[in-house]
Amino acid sequence: MAAAGKSFRLGVLVSGSGSNLQSIIDKLHRGDAGIEVVLVISDNPGAYGLRRAENAGIPTAVFPLGDFPDRPAHDRAMADELERHGVDLVVLAGYMLIVTPALLDRFPQRVINLHPALLPSFPGATPIEDTMAYGARVTGVTVHFVDEGTDTGPIILQEAVEIKYNDTVDSLRERIHAVEHRLLPRAIELIAAGRVGFDQENPRRVIVEGEE
Ligand code: GRF
Repeated sequence: MAAAGKSFRLGVLVSGSGSNLQSIIDKLHRGDAGIEVVLVISDNPGAYGLRRAENAGIPTAVFPLGDFPDRPAHDRAMADELERHGVDLVVLAGYMLIVTPALLDRFPQRVINLHPALLPSFPGATPIEDTMAYGARVTGVTVHFVDEGTDTGPIILQEAVEIKYNDTVDSLRERIHAVEHRLLPRAIELIAAGRVGFDQENPRRVIVEGEE
């Protein structure tokens, strides 16, 4: 939680377009809630998200997987950089690599991810395509803490999105993105305000203070 006078410092990891990073910049960065994006990291030097960060004057770093002997070495180097920048919360916003314990153990319960489906349904890399192919009628967006599994960590916020009979993957993706751009900044705001905790008896259950 942000101490008085000190900002709550975000490190954001992106692999591609970074529209969710943009929503964090537009809604939260250096705003009234005392939240600041202090570092944007990508595994992909061509990620447009890096340009968005540069346009906002935010420091960037690139960690291509191929520059490291293995995943743990890659994630250790990223964790070092995040620590150097005094990051309070690591946000995976369209970061397409699995994050290993080499990073997670350094930021316990301080790494969150955004997933374009209602977990635990449709985990993995292509959830929008998978949801459409399955013929589901409802999907949505999940923001969750990251654990060692793939899309298995405790859920912070979810919101449903209806699938229309004439939807295509692209039209559905567009509506999901609009929800993501609200839900991810909201989750970050709640965490920064110290309002997100865990049920003592069942730590899988996230509790948001002040919400029913
Ligand atoms: C989002 O749909 C996110 O849920 C998924 O990857 C996409 C990233 O979009 N993990 P963008 O790069 O933020 O535009």
